[in-house]
Amino acid sequence: MPNIAIIGSQWGDEGKAKIIDYLSEKADVIIRFQGGANAGHTVIAEGEQFIFHMVPSGIMYPTKVCIIGNGVVFDAEQFIAEVNALREKGISLDNRLFISDLAHLVLPYHKVLDQASESTMKGKKIGTTGRGIGPAYADKVNRIGIRTGDLLDWSSFESKLTTAFEQKRFIIENVYNGSFDFSLNDLIDKYKSISEIIIPKICDTGSYIFNCLQQNKNLLFEGAQGTFLDIDHGTYPFVTSSSTVSGCICSGAGVGPSAINEVVGIVKAYTTRVGNGPFPTELTGETGDKLRTKGVEFGATTGRPRRCGWFDSVQVRKAIQLNGFTRIALTKLDVLNNFDEIKICTHYNKNGENIEQFPSSPIGLDNMEPVFETHPGWETDISQCKKMSELPENAVNYVKRIQELCYSIPILIISVGPDRSQTIEVEPL
Ligand code: IMP
Repeated sequence: MPNIAIIGSQWGDEGKAKIIDYLSEKADVIIRFQGGANAGHTVIAEGEQFIFHMVPSGIMYPTKVCIIGNGVVFDAEQFIAEVNALREKGISLDNRLFISDLAHLVLPYHKVLDQASESTMKGKKIGTTGRGIGPAYADKVNRIGIRTGDLLDWSSFESKLTTAFEQKRFIIENVYNGSFDFSLNDLIDKYKSISEIIIPKICDTGSYIFNCLQQNKNLLFEGAQGTFLDIDHGTYPFVTSSSTVSGCICSGAGVGPSAINEVVGIVKAYTTRVGNGPFPTELTGETGDKLRTKGVEFGATTGRPRRCGWFDSVQVRKAIQLNGFTRIALTKLDVLNNFDEIKICTHYNKNGENIEQFPSSPIGLDNMEPVFETHPGWETDISQCKKMSELPENAVNYVKRIQELCYSIPILIISVGPDRSQTIEVEPL
């Protein structure tokens, strides 16, 4: 198998984890390269559901190596909770789960700052997950972050933590008029025990990956969030704090571009968004509610109801431009089983002018009207279909139209249900 990158083409929650889990069977090493515990990756294997926030979704295969790269902001408490849950299920993680020594830590004060900052935004809230992602990346860029590798020298870690804690306490007390419900000593004690658990897993993951490449091992790069939450290319400021497009794999994993052979865009058969910000094809009435219920569209991290709307080809064409997708995996097609009509946004209209390109700035989305074409639904349960030829004609036509609107990129997979077995391979790699 070639080395594959998996990237969300919309606003996250496209069903990446299922596809990552499915493709991981043929990979040797699965690597996360950005984001943090804001991600909520749901995997259903043999009827059992697992939600990962920190651990790569490929972990369910007992022989695969999983790596948390340097571009991730690492939430050690969340990581340990997931590791413990996996161990309880009898899944061994020994010598196959590694954390980059360069990954920045998300510390408890980052979460307090995240929530305090949101609380002052009044009508302009981003709607963050409250997991401390923005403040942790801000510290990184501000060159005052603390990295997992700092844990390898305890006295230096303690001194960095003390300085950072005092600075954050000053901000919380004087800017936000708040307080921490933990002391510096609490933090030091907590991280002393955390360090004992995670130190054996910390290493130079860039070198580890390079060795794997030399040995022709198959790599799978696991994206989190989605293209339109990218800090540069997304609907800023309603975005996350990392770069989510394929270009960031190199810096976030420590590899060169030649390490990536195929870029698979995960495209949900309709559109969702959690958090605030523009959403041209959003459905606020009954149809949106129906999509939410049928698709179980509730945030895997926060439980918030996701906003739902029809498929937006203008958006996905922009994602193709930004990521260089070589294949598409179309997910959650079965969610559309019970609709008599299904709409696709083909382009936008602004003041009478047809717009084919998603604007680079969200300001350009103001007054943009989505233009839809209507397709007949298939009103049949497709969740047990194993081949494209088993899909009803209306479902095939819907898929083909999406493909046509997306520069006719080959479709790798169509997902017709959450389980690994509910996957139609269309044009394998
Ligand atoms: P943050 O990443 O927690 O700072 O949140 C910033 C924005 O990104 C908010 O709108 C979140 O709802 C959204 N977001 C962050 N992670 C995910 C994800 O994994 N899926 C979908 N939306 C996300």
